[in-house]
Amino acid sequence: MTFRIIQISDTHLSPGKAHFADNWAPLARWIAEQRPDLVIHSGDVTVDGAEVEEDLRYCAELMRGLGVRFRAVPGNHDVGDAGHTHQPVSEKRLQRWRTHFDADRWVEDVEDFRLIGFDALLLGSGVPEETIQAEWLEAVMGDAGSRRIAWFLHRPLFLDGPEEGDTGYWSVKPQPRTALLRSLHRHSVALVASGHLHKAHDFLRDGTRYIWAPSSAFLVGPAKAPPMPGENRLGAVVYEIDGAAITAKIVELPDLSRHWIDDVAEEVYPRRPGG
Ligand SMILES: [Fe+2]
Ligand SMILES: [Fe+2]
Repeated sequence: MTFRIIQISDTHLSPGKAHFADNWAPLARWIAEQRPDLVIHSGDVTVDGAEVEEDLRYCAELMRGLGVRFRAVPGNHDVGDAGHTHQPVSEKRLQRWRTHFDADRWVEDVEDFRLIGFDALLLGSGVPEETIQAEWLEAVMGDAGSRRIAWFLHRPLFLDGPEEGDTGYWSVKPQPRTALLRSLHRHSVALVASGHLHKAHDFLRDGTRYIWAPSSAFLVGPAKAPPMPGENRLGAVVYEIDGAAITAKIVELPDLSRHWIDDVAEEVYPRRPGG
């Protein structure tokens, strides 16, 4: 029996800001047709759960409405970000996430795989939970036995390559990245799946497969993001795991409306004085 997983990402939903709401129904319909065993959401579930708890409550209800077991890791718009001026990740924000979405890190043993979801927004944050998560990650990697390991996190480890410098908002900072890559190589992590960039990309680097899950909400124009690999597609990812074998396929969903954040940025994410 093959275990089928659908990864969705960056849905950016909110009862108050319905700019991308029209893409939920076609996404949910497609997921139902796929008959997955598990859905994994790789973050930015909400427009602004970091500020508005109602966004978290509403989106958790939508996720439960899929009628499929799901796991989620938070995005920066769900729990804030490390060192953010207005929305730093904090114990209070993490607690709100846990209330509606359960833990921000988790393990799923599937066939001969160990899937590990963890919270990318803690990386480099300096909040106590960062160290606790790092120790937990080492522990769950250490006792994976012969299982192959797959990581799910919101922010990608890098854009162009593991040696690159600080890309700011877009990828994990060099210092936590180095620590993660050391662990990744030590345990021969098979797959790293992320979201955040709203780009579709699938590549192999030093024996590890990297999947950038597309958003199902909106695309980001060149004025809003630096040049990076990947394609401007809206969709999801289908994984099939059979024993120690895994397949992954990024699927573009033509029923989704191709929104561009550039057109609505000031309404959805208004700039604030000071950043
Ligand atoms: Fe996003
Ligand atoms: Fe994000």
